[in-house]
Amino acid sequence: MQYQWYPGHMTKAKRQMMEDLKLIDVVVELVDARIPHSSKNPDIDTMANGKSRVLLLNKADLADREKTSAWKTYYEAAGYYVVTVDSKAGFGIKEVGSVVALACREKTERDRRRGIKNRPIRAMVVGIPNVGKSTFINAFAKKAVTKTGNKPGVTKGKQWIRLNRDVELLDTPGILWPKFEDRAVGLRIALIGSINDEILVGTELGFELSNFLTKNYPGLLKAKYGVEECDDGNEMLLRVARARACLKKGGELDVEKAAGFLLDDFRNGKIGCFTLEIPDSPSLDSQEQG
Ligand code: G4P
Repeated sequence: MQYQWYPGHMTKAKRQMMEDLKLIDVVVELVDARIPHSSKNPDIDTMANGKSRVLLLNKADLADREKTSAWKTYYEAAGYYVVTVDSKAGFGIKEVGSVVALACREKTERDRRRGIKNRPIRAMVVGIPNVGKSTFINAFAKKAVTKTGNKPGVTKGKQWIRLNRDVELLDTPGILWPKFEDRAVGLRIALIGSINDEILVGTELGFELSNFLTKNYPGLLKAKYGVEECDDGNEMLLRVARARACLKKGGELDVEKAAGFLLDDFRNGKIGCFTLEIPDSPSLDSQEQG
């Protein structure tokens, strides 16, 4: 799924999100574990002010395990309840239910003191396109499939999925827009394939990816493509093109095709598990809630 966002889209999405947020107790926010910072929309922090927050590091199966662990610690220190998840395979999904309950325990306690019993926690999933919101909802809701229809006091048309005795989930996720004013952020979102490749030229992405891999994971490209590594991304693409026999009509090396191979292999986890950013900078998430 690939989106281009314009100011009008963002305003509409934001308005819808603000409406939906009124109905819920806890925001379950998905980010891509390979780029937790770049796939996170900081505006949600202001919009969800006062709500309990659960952050899911999704697609953890494609990310570098140690770095995922570092990100978990980082976001926990910033005040989130964090769960590492692979929604596709179903890993970590079970834990999310208990963490949501934990994140809302103050509200549940308050309800109990007021004599309100059995009022389920209401949750909503949010995230930028392609982080795995639908996949997660399907995995999370697998066992509990009762869709509760319209209820008095609930905006018409809202569907809730009753997950268990304690939790209801709004069945449509909130789609956030990526924040890629910063070139590095846009580049990382493009590298994992969440924005249209036409926006950024494939060879440029291949070049950046090759540079990242040779620098941070030396030996991997050699192992995968049988090419000698060097720190010149253009030369590396030529070498991959040669190794993969990517040729244009006249016999010239097809660098674009080689970049395509490299990107596909990377996105599908065929080269290995990678995280493109690390939580080393205190300014990375300056807008995070405390
Ligand atoms: P969205 O609602 O946030 O836009 O994302 P969606 O669930 O549509 O997921 C986008 C892509 O990411 C899908 O792949 C989905 O299978 C994949 N995905 C979601 N969660 C995970 C995960 O934890 N690990 C991995 N490896 N992949 C995940 P697709 O190529 O668009 O479709 P398909 O491969 O399922 O056919």
